[in-house]
Amino acid sequence: MSDVPLFDPLVLRGIEFRNRIFVSPMCEYSARDGLPNEWHMVHLGSRAVGGAGLVLTEATAVSPAGRISPADTGLWSEAHVQAWRPIVQFVRDQGAVAGVQLAHAGRKASTRIPWEGSGEVPAAEGGWQTLAPSAVPFDASYPNPRALTVAELGEVERQWVAATRFALDAGFQVVELHMAHGYLMHQFLSPLSNRRDDAYGGSLENRMRFPLQVARAVRAAWPAELPLFARISATDWTDGGWDVEQSVVLGRSLREIGVDLVDCSSGGNVRHATIPVAPGYQVPFAERIRRDAGIATGAVGLITDAAQANAIVAGGRADAVIMARELLRDPYFPLHAAKQLGVEVGWPKQYLRAKR
Ligand SMILES: Cc1cc2nc3c(=O)[nH]c(=O)nc-3n(C[C@H](O)[C@H](O)[C@H](O)COP(=O)(O)O)c2cc1C
Repeated sequence: MSDVPLFDPLVLRGIEFRNRIFVSPMCEYSARDGLPNEWHMVHLGSRAVGGAGLVLTEATAVSPAGRISPADTGLWSEAHVQAWRPIVQFVRDQGAVAGVQLAHAGRKASTRIPWEGSGEVPAAEGGWQTLAPSAVPFDASYPNPRALTVAELGEVERQWVAATRFALDAGFQVVELHMAHGYLMHQFLSPLSNRRDDAYGGSLENRMRFPLQVARAVRAAWPAELPLFARISATDWTDGGWDVEQSVVLGRSLREIGVDLVDCSSGGNVRHATIPVAPGYQVPFAERIRRDAGIATGAVGLITDAAQANAIVAGGRADAVIMARELLRDPYFPLHAAKQLGVEVGWPKQYLRAKR
């Protein structure tokens, strides 16, 4: 480990990340029919130019029904592969690793884009029937989901596998499984949203069954030399919900399946959780899962400062920091952080005359 481990390369399987500052997935609500466009090129491309080690796309749906909103990106056809390919190529050309967060929103699908309101998009405006482990809505303003049958679970699993193959075709080098924030996989994990009485509900083993089944199938479809991540919500922040102890068990199972890194977020499955939001408030989850599940982790949530980010990696609390809003404010955060921490990093050659 160097004096500034934030800028030490990280190697997972056959992929080397140039540093440990990763761009967190961020929905842009700017796609049509799931197809990314110029906005996504500039948004993701800028953060690759800014020096991040990994640029992860926003939650990208494995099927039309899996979109959070009608304006989400997707990866369910050859047309999506074609639309992603130049964006992925540009990100890679800047020296960043290109990753895709694959997602299915389950009962939190078919909702409005944030600047057009909240809650359900009615069928008359293009909304759709949502799917979930159990027919329990997220809250009264959200759509009423239909419980998935066991046969339909097989179909959803096949959609994840197909999206994984499309991701490979598009040139992505990392797949992150979205198991957090109250979306479909998290809905299965948490007893607050999973009320099933078949093999997919009840005990912890049963609640983990579908997410692990998907993780196993994706791992089998994703080349052995490429890393697989999973983003989880380490806790529901609610009594009787998903918690850190269960996350450690899940982390171990994910490691056994061949997942390489757990991206440790929290919350999102119940509306009225009390969350003690403060700088680095989710870092203890990354630290705990890293230690007790024996798997690499990413820390996310209110990491905004170079010294703070470096201390997380230097302290062995996480293998990488995953940043969202600070990278919206400053796409060049990695270049600025390197300067601040006294590390020499390459700048894009087009920008060399501005290097300080
Ligand atoms: C505009 C925006 C969109 C987001 N979309 C996603 C998403 O698609 N998938 C996801 O896992 N998290 C999403 N998040 C959560 C972030 O990835 C991150 O976990 C959260 O913002 C906390 O990190 P921060 O304090 O660095 O912003 C989003 C956050 C923002 C601000």
